[in-house]
Amino acid sequence: MTRFPPLDLTGACVAITGGAQGIGRATAGAFARRGARVAIGDLDFDLAKETAAELGGTAHRLDVGDPESFRVFLAEAAAAHGEPAVLVNNAGIMPNGGFLDLDERTNRLMIEVNLFGVVHGMRLVLPGMLARGRGHIVNVASLAGKFPVPGLAMYNASKFAVVLLSAATRREYAARGVSISTVLPSAVDTGLSAGLDMKPIPKVQPADIARAVLGSVRSRRAEIAVPGYVGGLAALAAITPEPLLNAVRRLMRDDRALRPDSPERHAYRSRLDDQETR
Ligand SMILES: NC(=O)c1ccc[n+]([C@@H]2O[C@H](COP(=O)([O-])OP(=O)(O)OC[C@H]3O[C@@H](n4cnc5c(N)ncnc54)[C@H](O)[C@@H]3O)[C@@H](O)[C@H]2O)c1
Repeated sequence: MTRFPPLDLTGACVAITGGAQGIGRATAGAFARRGARVAIGDLDFDLAKETAAELGGTAHRLDVGDPESFRVFLAEAAAAHGEPAVLVNNAGIMPNGGFLDLDERTNRLMIEVNLFGVVHGMRLVLPGMLARGRGHIVNVASLAGKFPVPGLAMYNASKFAVVLLSAATRREYAARGVSISTVLPSAVDTGLSAGLDMKPIPKVQPADIARAVLGSVRSRRAEIAVPGYVGGLAALAAITPEPLLNAVRRLMRDDRALRPDSPERHAYRSRLDDQETR
């Protein structure tokens, strides 16, 4: 395995996108408790300010889909805490529904936030990290980047893209001291997945993902599934003959993400609609 120059988190700048709530918030807390100086960027600036006030760190207005907004976020983070030693590309959205039922705008937003949000962050932070010969980027993808789910086709596509983007860039830059890890959560108990019954896929807590992100600074592992065994199941599913897989999936009733009709899903979609009209 490639050895990367170690990173001392004490006093180090860690920039986290989508850090106002959910997994990003838990991750910000975990890094802050380890002595890092945390810059929380989020589209919801008011909530980011509340989170930063509670956890420590600074709050920044950020739209990851806009490279100029991302540039300003990283410049503010560097001015407040020094050049980022770690960037956690966490911001993401997950509108669900049938492939033909999601509109063009929603599909584009998903690619802009989930994929280009990561691309912009990496392109902005990598030159400095490469010049310093050290740094770590964590891309929070999803097991949905490995395992197709009816009702999440565009989300699957966006996360699959992040998985390969991370794997290819990791190989490109490993010899220059900069690591790129991909964290692959199963379902996590946050607003993003509220109202979606994905059983028997286990629902873990944001703190479990935060632990994996923090742990990647030491392990620098390429891919970290949470929980780990679900990563193994996704790999097994990929080599299972389709008739057998279909039978198992029918038993699991794997079509539940096709129905965007629970009150929680409506609440999540309204939150995204508010973001789109800002
Ligand atoms: N919750 C799950 O079940 C789950 C599972 C696998 C992967 N993930 C991934 O984990 C990441 C975090 O998800 P979460 O569950 O914490 O979601 P969440 O909705 O709880 O939090 C996401 C945060 O990102 C912010 N955000 C959204 N669009 C943004 C943008 N354009 N620019 C900046 N900030 C933006 C939101 O305001 C919000 O604060 C996402 O990438 C998601 O795809 C989540």
